[in-house]
Amino acid sequence: AEIGLREYTNDFKIGLALNSTFWEGVEGYTEAARNIFNMGVAENGCKLSHIQAEKGVYDFSQCDSHLAKAIENNMDFRGHCLIWHNYQPEWFVNLKGDDLRNAIVEHITTVLNHYRGKIDTWDVVNEAVDNDSTGENGGWEMRKSFLYNEVPDFVDLAFKTAREVDPNVKLYYNDYNNEGSPEKMGKSIAVYNFVKDMVERGVPIDGVGIQYHIKTSSYPAYEDVMDFMAKYAQLGLEVQITEMDVRCDNNTKEEFEKQAELYGVALRACLDSPNCNAFLIWGLADNLSWKVGSYPDILDDDLKPKHAYYTLLNIL
Ligand code: XIL
Repeated sequence: AEIGLREYTNDFKIGLALNSTFWEGVEGYTEAARNIFNMGVAENGCKLSHIQAEKGVYDFSQCDSHLAKAIENNMDFRGHCLIWHNYQPEWFVNLKGDDLRNAIVEHITTVLNHYRGKIDTWDVVNEAVDNDSTGENGGWEMRKSFLYNEVPDFVDLAFKTAREVDPNVKLYYNDYNNEGSPEKMGKSIAVYNFVKDMVERGVPIDGVGIQYHIKTSSYPAYEDVMDFMAKYAQLGLEVQITEMDVRCDNNTKEEFEKQAELYGVALRACLDSPNCNAFLIWGLADNLSWKVGSYPDILDDDLKPKHAYYTLLNIL
C-alpha cells in the first residue's frame, strides 16, 4: 500500500481505528496506517474504561497517545466514546441513581475540558437503543442497561452536558445495525425514530454514527443506506460511517469479492450523500481486528491490500 487511499480524497475523511498495541508490536503498522488514512479514532484508548478505570482518577495517557499518533501522521481525530454500557469498569456499572448521574456529568465534563480545542467530534452516547427494537409505530426500545435502569434520561443528560461544557464540539450518537440491513431494518428505523425524537425535543445533537459492522451474508442495499443518510440530512444532521468492517465466512476469492463490493457500497453511499463526511474502518488488517478469524478488513495479515482495498481506491 505505498500509494494510500488518502492521496485520492479531497476534503473527505477516510479513517482507521488506531490501536497502540499494534503500533507498538507490529512492524509496518504505523507506516501502513499513515499511508492509507487521513483520520483516526482510538479503538479503545479514549473510552471511560481507559480514562477513568478507577473512580475519580483520570488517566489521559492512552487517549493522549492515540491523539498524538494521529497528529504526528497528519490525520484528523474523532473522539470515541463518552458514555457506553459495554466494557465498563465495575465501579461505574455498580453506581446507583444520583451517584451514576453525577459520574456521567463529571466524566463528560472532565474529558471535554481536557480535549477542548483538540478533539472536535465526540461520540457522546454509544449503543443506547435495544438491538431488537422493531421501530414500530414510530417508536424504539431503549437498551435495558445499567445506564437506562438507573438514569432513564441519561442520553439527554449526556448530550446537554456535552453541549454546555464545550459548544464547539460536534456531538454524535453512534450505534450498530443502523445501516439498513434487511434483517435489522427494524433497529435502523428505531434508531432513526430515537434520534428524530431527540431533535424534536431540542436535545443538542449534530450527527449520527453508523458503525456498519456487517457480514457478507447480511448487508444493506445501496438505496437503503442512502435513504437513511437522507433522512438524517432532513433532520439537519451529519452522518459518519464510524466502524466499518465486513465479516467473511471464509477466506476464499468469492467471499473477498463480495466483501469488496460491500465496502464499495458503503463508501459510495457516503460519498453520494452530502451530509456524510467520514468513512472509518475498525481495524487495519485481518489479523489485527476485534473479529479475528472473519477476515473483516481491507489489508491481509501481511498488510497487503485485499480486493476491498482496490475497490475503495477505484471509487475514490
Ligand atoms: C471494541 C474494540 O474493538 C475491542 O478491542 C474492545 O475489546 C471492545 O470494543 N462498537 C463500538 C466499539 O462502538 O467501541 C467496539 O470496539 C466495537 C463495537
